Amino acid sequence: MKPIKVGLLGLGTVGTGVVRIVEGHQEDLQRQVGSPIRIEKILVQNPTKARNIAVDAGKLTDDPWDIIRDPEIDVIIEVMGGIEPTKGFILEALSRGKHIVTANKDLMALHGTEILAKAVEHRCDVLYEASVAGGIPIIRTLAEGFSSDRITKIMGIVNGTTNYILTKMSQEGAAYEDVLKEAQELGYAEADPTSDVEGLDAARKMTILGSLGFGVNVELSDVSVKGITGITKEDILYGKKLGYEVKLLGIAERQDDHISISVQPTMVKTSHPISSVNGVFNAVYVYGEAVGETMFYGPGAGELPTATSIVADLVAVVKNLRLGVNGRKVLAPYKEKKLKTDEQ
Ligand code: NAP
Ligand code: HSE
Repeated sequence: MKPIKVGLLGLGTVGTGVVRIVEGHQEDLQRQVGSPIRIEKILVQNPTKARNIAVDAGKLTDDPWDIIRDPEIDVIIEVMGGIEPTKGFILEALSRGKHIVTANKDLMALHGTEILAKAVEHRCDVLYEASVAGGIPIIRTLAEGFSSDRITKIMGIVNGTTNYILTKMSQEGAAYEDVLKEAQELGYAEADPTSDVEGLDAARKMTILGSLGFGVNVELSDVSVKGITGITKEDILYGKKLGYEVKLLGIAERQDDHISISVQPTMVKTSHPISSVNGVFNAVYVYGEAVGETMFYGPGAGELPTATSIVADLVAVVKNLRLGVNGRKVLAPYKEKKLKTDEQ
């Protein structure tokens, strides 16, 4: 069968993982979707830079339009990050009928409504599983797995970098700056790690989870945010003596027509399982009126876990292509109506 042609925007930590999985699991992917999947072109800033992966130099380009305007490309995977020019690239690609897979929580939290509306207009898929909790399929779970229930609360550790830092400070007494540097070297942190440590990355993810879980538009400004920069080694050790671990928790709760969403460092009793979620791991608890309490756990950042979610989205897009149902399954609301938040 005719191969599915993919354009990849970005060949950093996550883009490298995507190439590894698409190449390494080609046979399994092909078996599932019925045709080969080929990464045809890859956008980078610097095509001559040394890379952690060997790719055909002819595939690398620094011209985004070479990919976006290529009529042969069916799907674009966006793993370059940032708001602009990325948003413009995605909107243009959608208007040309290309399906999008993205890991970009900054973009989806701020402009998800506009992007998803454009996708519907052009009968395209926009899937973004990797934007929250790396390798945990929490977006699909919220959008589909609990469609029968009324979700009342979502709580979790949704940033790998800060959990890695807090864990190393707690278990090894390591210095904050040293561990942050390690997290950057491991590819966990954002290009600007301020968004990790100030809690913004987690707030963007809670915006996405809140929108999906409660079926309304949650805006980033609805989330009250506090990061971990004010947490000292002494705070952590003092908490430990009293039987607590410090964790950066995101909590989104609904009561009737009111929701509250926050991200803040929290003392968690060591008897609670979330206190044992360590290192780059994330955990998300979802509470539903019918189901009760559920917990999802796994690696929250890094090359291969994140790429696993991206390639799963790619498989979903290609299966929809085969069925001719792209653009009919939108994994988020895009309503005018908002729920009242704490601020209102
Ligand atoms: P990264 O390592 O910094 O890689 C970014 C890639 O995009 C690089 O290859 C860079 O090119 C390219 N790029 C950036 N701006 C560009 C531009 N204006 N034009 C052309 N190419 C451009 O980033 P990453 O860690 O892979 O993260 C990518 C995205 O995934 C972000 O949205 C991030 O929030 C999200 N994400 C990351 C993780 C993770 O664990 N790292 C997990 C979940 C989601 P050069 O290589 O030439 O510099
Ligand atoms: N910087 C993010 C984190 C990457 O540490 O969780 C995964 O979204």
